[in-house]
Amino acid sequence: LFYFILFYFILFYFILFYFILFYFLYVRLNLRNFQLPHSQISLVPNEGLQVSISNAFAELDGNWRVKLRFLRQRGSFNLKLSHVYIKTILKLGRDASGKPTVDISACSTSISNVRVRFSGKLSWLYNLFRRTIESKLKKNLEGKVCGSLSSSVRRFLQPYLQTVPVTAKIDTTVGIDYSLTAPPVATAQFLNADLKGECFSLAQHTAIPFTPPALAFPPDHSRMVYFGVSSYFFNTASFAYHTAGALVFEITDSMIPKDIEFRLNTSTFAAFLPQLDEMYPNMPMKFRLSTPSAPFLSIGPDGVSLQPVVDIQAYAIYPNGSLAPLFLLSLTGNVSATADVRSGRMVGSLALGRMKLTLKHSDVGTGTFKVKMMQSIMNIVASSVLLPRLNERLGKGFPLPLPAQVQLSDLLVQFHENFLLFGANVHYQPRQGR
Ligand SMILES: *[C@@H]1O[C@H](CO)[C@@H](O)[C@H](O)[C@H]1NC(C)=O
Ligand SMILES: *[C@@H]1O[C@H](CO)[C@@H](O)[C@H](O)[C@H]1NC(C)=O
Ligand SMILES: *[C@@H]1O[C@H](CO)[C@@H](O)[C@H](O)[C@H]1NC(C)=O
Repeated sequence: LFYFILFYFILFYFILFYFILFYFLYVRLNLRNFQLPHSQISLVPNEGLQVSISNAFAELDGNWRVKLRFLRQRGSFNLKLSHVYIKTILKLGRDASGKPTVDISACSTSISNVRVRFSGKLSWLYNLFRRTIESKLKKNLEGKVCGSLSSSVRRFLQPYLQTVPVTAKIDTTVGIDYSLTAPPVATAQFLNADLKGECFSLAQHTAIPFTPPALAFPPDHSRMVYFGVSSYFFNTASFAYHTAGALVFEITDSMIPKDIEFRLNTSTFAAFLPQLDEMYPNMPMKFRLSTPSAPFLSIGPDGVSLQPVVDIQAYAIYPNGSLAPLFLLSLTGNVSATADVRSGRMVGSLALGRMKLTLKHSDVGTGTFKVKMMQSIMNIVASSVLLPRLNERLGKGFPLPLPAQVQLSDLLVQFHENFLLFGANVHYQPRQGR
């Protein structure tokens, strides 16, 4: 009878225990220790990024509490998970607005070791069922990890990517659209992302009258990151500044360096146009430079070159400040450019080649106009006034789209057909202090 009663006693507790455990057990968990000794991101061709975490360890403390009308119990437990392996594939894509998207396309988890210890009243009883609880927990956790990873990606990573801007202002006139034109593609060596790289005028969105060229990246893999800037980027920038009316530049006498033996006035130009002395004697002058069409540059293995056409309108300035138009010249020149990266910014400089000057229109008569002689003056103006100012702006550079705290090293700059290629190794440099 004793054994019979004992048997039923144990059976009763066994049933009660399961009942309690699965229906009336309240658990509060506290993560005490968490270690990720090995995590790795690798490329899976045509799939995306594989993130694998191996040999992770977690230790949790918890309180359990059973609250029933006839039964109130509480206690604590300690849970150790070791040899945790998680492998997921992040699939990258793009949405309709060209922003990146991310989702989990595959996930697997295995937990080799789960250990649980109960303490408190009746813990001796719960500890008897440890093995059963551990194997149930193992199955349960293995099933939950992927689910909670997926929901974290959907709840946190995806909304974060949605905040990544795909347009930015370069200055007050022009913005850049760097939205994705296609989903990022993983190959065995690289993750490739095609960005639009198109500049536009902030005031008015005008359709671009040319198409982007195809880019053929060299199969070089010695640097961690390669960044190609197509001639399309520069030409849309040029088009945007031109349509916004920003490619206008005025040259006045005060801008001519003092050490140059030449003043921008009608007495100087009377040497080429004697009638200036009669019509506008001894008056200061001003040049207004503008582009009749957006300058178009081309990039080839030898470098960057452009043949800008610049209209130069000359004025005489009356004492009351109003302008008298004198003549309109057209300047065509060969300009070459170099590019480099300094402190995370793309910088450049221009060099002038031969220039050719033609007379388009004259308000002071054309008969005695000595255009050829004026060319030497224009050479001086271009090389001493225009070029230093352009190079000063290009020297300040344009920021590369780099995340904060990322440093570049082993920089490489190459010219290829239709694009500039920058390569670099990337280092993440956590902020000092704090
Ligand atoms: C005009 O320029 C000449 C030199 O090119 C100079 O001798 C003359 O003083 C200038 N006139 C004025 C009004 O600045
Ligand atoms: C400025 O002076 C010139 C010549 O004296 C004259 O023709 C012109 O009308 C004046 N302009 C203004 C705005 O007063
Ligand atoms: C600019 O260069 C091109 C080709 O290199 C040449 O045909 C053209 O004559 C040059 N223009 C000037 C103004 O020198």
